[in-house]
Amino acid sequence: MRSGHSGERATLIHMSLLASRSTGSGPLAVFLHGFPMDHRLWDQLVAQLGGYRQCVAVDLPGCGDSSIEGATSIDDIADRVAELITSFGADADVVGLSMGGYVQLALFERHPDVVRSLVLMDTRSEADTDEGKAGRMALIEQVEATGVDPVADAMANALPATQAAPWVKRRIRTMASNSSPAAVISALQAMATRSDRTGMLSTIQVPTLVLVGSDDALTPPDGARRMAGAIGAKFVEIAGAGHVPPLERPAAVAEAVQQFWTQQAVTG
Ligand code: MLT
Repeated sequence: MRSGHSGERATLIHMSLLASRSTGSGPLAVFLHGFPMDHRLWDQLVAQLGGYRQCVAVDLPGCGDSSIEGATSIDDIADRVAELITSFGADADVVGLSMGGYVQLALFERHPDVVRSLVLMDTRSEADTDEGKAGRMALIEQVEATGVDPVADAMANALPATQAAPWVKRRIRTMASNSSPAAVISALQAMATRSDRTGMLSTIQVPTLVLVGSDDALTPPDGARRMAGAIGAKFVEIAGAGHVPPLERPAAVAEAVQQFWTQQAVTG
């Protein structure tokens, strides 16, 4: 079922349990946001890429307009994304950032047939360390005690590079504070219990681009370069961006993704 406006504007779609917005036309490309965000992470990017693909920006469970119901793990979320892609009757170029990347790796492992290519942005294949898990538990306790807003503020300050425009922080804060405490806690638990997928990187046979902000403090370029090496993927570093290049440097990211897709068409 589709609702909303057609044409240039993004169209709200409820074709599966996940809500999403569609922009543009062409082969299907699905965009998976990071934590604690929603489909709006991709607004600038899909505006530039809609001439090349039908860009479907998803709200992951509990975020934006998607229900939290039944999505307790990264694998569950990947299964829902596979269902969404299948509902379009085709495979997809899948683009994801950070938590979206955790979902992409699970998606490729569990449903390789729905994935035509991957763009892995500012993400990692490793599971959380014990210290990382303890950090998630502390954040869960904070959300239980004070609600989402203090976490939204902290993430808005921590994710972009220090030189990011003030509206980037405001956009992250707006997206994060839109999520319910239950949704934020569920996402934190899903990330804390995700599998380590480093061992499966060498099994990724579809064309893959690994992209990272040069100033990403959460998933730094060294780790992203190692991941690209293990996959045999193309690697692009976005100068001056932190953990959210699609907001911080949308034109450079769009150019890198569009060139990657064009290359695929030539060599594929
Ligand atoms: C994200 O951007 O999705 C998160 O920073 C990922 C994480 O906390 O591991």
